[in-house]
Formats: sequence, structure tokens, C-alpha cells
Amino acid sequence: MSDMKRSIIITGGAGFIGSHVVRLFVNKYPEYRIINLDKLTYAGNLANLKDIEDKPNYRFVKMDICDFEAVYKLMQEEKVDGIIHLAAESHVDRSIKDPFTFAQTNVMGTLSMLQAAKTYWESLPEKYEGKRFYHISTDEVYGALEMTEPEGIEPPFSTKASSGKHHLAYGTKFFTEDLKYQPHSPYSAAKASSDHFVRAYHDTYGMPTIVTNCSNNYGPYQFPEKLIPLFINNIRHRRPLPVYGKGENVRDWLYVEDHARAIDLIFHEGSIGETYNIGGFNEWKNIDIIKVLINTVDRLLGRPEGVDMDLITYVTDRAGHDLRYAIDSSKLQRELGWEPSLQFEEGIEKTVRWYLDNQDWMDNVTSGDYQKYYDDMYKGR
Ligand code: NAD
Ligand code: DAU
Repeated sequence: MSDMKRSIIITGGAGFIGSHVVRLFVNKYPEYRIINLDKLTYAGNLANLKDIEDKPNYRFVKMDICDFEAVYKLMQEEKVDGIIHLAAESHVDRSIKDPFTFAQTNVMGTLSMLQAAKTYWESLPEKYEGKRFYHISTDEVYGALEMTEPEGIEPPFSTKASSGKHHLAYGTKFFTEDLKYQPHSPYSAAKASSDHFVRAYHDTYGMPTIVTNCSNNYGPYQFPEKLIPLFINNIRHRRPLPVYGKGENVRDWLYVEDHARAIDLIFHEGSIGETYNIGGFNEWKNIDIIKVLINTVDRLLGRPEGVDMDLITYVTDRAGHDLRYAIDSSKLQRELGWEPSLQFEEGIEKTVRWYLDNQDWMDNVTSGDYQKYYDDMYKGR
């Protein structure tokens, strides 16, 4: 616990990763004031935070990060000294259909947050002293890596997340912090642009910024348009599982609470102006994860294990589908001592159980009713 009082805005706190970060900070730092700034798009859901919404150190504010005036006033009102910026449009498939919204939220929204923080902090006598603007980004900005077939190789580092039966790297190259940005999708292009703006505010105005780039997260409260929750729900209801292309693409998976722990550590102990990659050296081909999901859901529902394999349906590939992501997080391990706490098999079991046990949550977010409910509830706040 820290004895310092802080006032921190967490943007996107009603989303998947943001809700885990808000929960961690509200519970771990009762002396901090935690302000969750979220527009509540389709992906934002206050039901993700039911367990902490009445805590005295927590405030929810329904606000658009693009609304510079409102954000600036909130920073003044709350005397904000820390910002953890997660709010974004986050789904690659949506970005392919609607790139404008991604540029607006991810680029202009981040710029609005930066400029509001700059204007407020520069108005104070101590200016940037004791302040921190922490921007959460993605490994997708680095583009795609080559793949080695067929057996895979040992990764250069073993971590708890990857130390189970499955322990492969599908290539010899990894994303390191010094790699050139090569985004391919409108989502990753917009995230890359926002990262550049954050660094520009550090280099030009001396703003105390930090950027982290994380691999694919999984766990409770993820909106069921993303692979893992979508497929768990489809297997449960025996609906087809739309596998893009041949299912050979590789992603590097990290349990969401391990990401939240890394964010906590980096917010408090990371060096200003630095970039840290976050990941568990835990690469999986999509098709292999899908088979694990089918076996796990079937087992937990008391069905013969694997009986639902025939739900696998190969469909047209995602346009510009990146082949392989693999994060090298050794800088974070070396400099700040962070390690994932959970082995992938344990994490997947916990995750599948959570979705099966929380069918109401799933039904709510898939019905669309929750959006209206919360719009009514927070009207005028
Ligand atoms: P998410 O889509 O689940 O949540 C995004 C949140 O941002 C929602 O609560 C939404 O209401 C809010 N939001 C969107 N537009 C807003 C706006 N204009 N103003 C205020 N709030 C707005 O996203 P996520 O998966 O939790 O990702 C959070 C962040 O982490 C994103 O910046 C994403 O790029 C990054 N990231 C995600 C992953 C992953 O695997 N999900 C991995 C690495 C990095
Ligand atoms: O790498 C970090 C990124 O991970 C984050 O920045 C993004 O916000 C997050 O959405 C995630 O991006 P991906 O595109 O990797 O995640 P998604 O769950 O959409 O897809 C994972 C893989 O599964 C990808 O190779 C596409 C494939 N897929 C996905 C869906 C939704 C399918 O085969 N079928 C599907 O229906």
C-alpha cells in the first residue's frame, strides 16, 4: 500500500481490461481517488464493476474522451495527478468496417486527453512534478511476425504463463520495444498513431508519459465479439464456431488480471518516457485454443469431451489478418520484476467457468438491453 494520496482518472474503466484495473486500484489503494471516465459505448458495461461501485474512493463519470472541455474541467475539479488511459475502440473486425470511428476515438480521443492534461498540469505551480500520463497500447502496432513450421521452437524465456504442457514459440523473432511500428489494420494504425502522439507530448512538452504494449488478454468480462468469450458462448449453445482462414494464426495470450498487475506496477515504478512490452511468452495457434475451449466447455457441462468439435466452421479470412504476434516482455521482467502469475491452462479453466457461471452477464450484453438501462440510470450525471 502507498501512503500517498492520489487522484487518478482511468479511462475506459467500464470495458474489459479497464474494469479489472479499476477494481484492482479501488481495492488496493483506499487512500486514492479513482475516477472511471467512460462513454459507455456498446463495450462499456457498469455491471462489470457492481462489486466496487459503492466504495467511497470510487466515482464513475459518463464522458467522451473526445470532449476536451469536459475532460479538462473534470481534471481541474478532481485535481487529477495521474491518468491511466485505456478508452478505445478495440475490435479489429469493427475497424475494418468503420475506420473513421477508430481514428476519432483512438487518435483524436487520446489527443484530447493529452491536451487536457497538458493544459491543466501546466497551469499548476508544480507543473508536471508528481504527475503521470500512462497510455495503454497493443502489440498489434508492431505488425506481424514470421512463423516457423511445423514444430515450433522453445521460447527464449520460460514464464509461469507458458510453463504448462504447451510451451512453444512459433518463430525466432519477437516484438521488442525498439521495433519499428508496422500496423496493418485500421485499429492498429489508430493505436500506433495515438502512441506517437503520447511520445510527442513527452518529447515536445516534457509531459511525464509511459506507454505499454500488451499481447492478447483473456478472462472475465470480455465483450463476446472477441474470440474466447464468443466461442465459449457458441459452444455452450451449440452454434457454429467461425474460424477465420485455416485457424493457423498465432496469438500470445495473457490473463487479464496479470495485465492489470503489470499496469499497477508500471504506473508506480515505471520510468518516465519509457515503453514496456507486456506478455507471457504464451503463443497459441487459434485452432489449438479453440480445441481446448471445446474440450473444457464440454467437460464442465458434463458433455462427452470433444463432442462439439464439429461446430468448427472455417470461414473467409479476416482482411489483412496478422499471422503471428509474440511479445518479448523481458525488459519488464528484468527492470521491474513482473511475471505472469497464472499458467495458461489454469487461466482458461477459470475463464470458461466464469462465463458458464455468469450466463446472465452474457445474456445482458448480447441482448443490448443493458445499454438502455445504464443510459437511463446515468442520464444527467
Ligand atoms: P473494450 O472495448 O472492452 O473497452 C473499451 C472501453 O472504452 C469501453 O468501456 C468503452 O465504453 C470505452 N470507450 C470507448 N470509446 C470511448 C470514448 N470516446 N470515451 C470514453 N470511453 C470510451 O477494450 P479492452 O479490450 O478492455 O481494451 C482496453 C485498452 O487496452 C484499449 O486501449 C486496447 O487498445 C488495449 N489493449 C487491449 C488488449 C486486449 O486483448 N483486449 C490487448 C492490448 C491492449
Ligand atoms: O494483440 C492485442 C489485441 O488482441 C488487442 O489490441 C485487441 O484490442 C484485441 O481485440 C485482440 O485482437 P485480435 O484481433 O487478436 O483478437 P480477436 O479476439 O478478435 O481474435 C483473435 C484471433 O482469432 C485472431 O487471429 C482472429 C481469430 N478469430 C477471431 C474471431 C472474433 C477467428 O478466427 N474467429 C472469430 O470469430
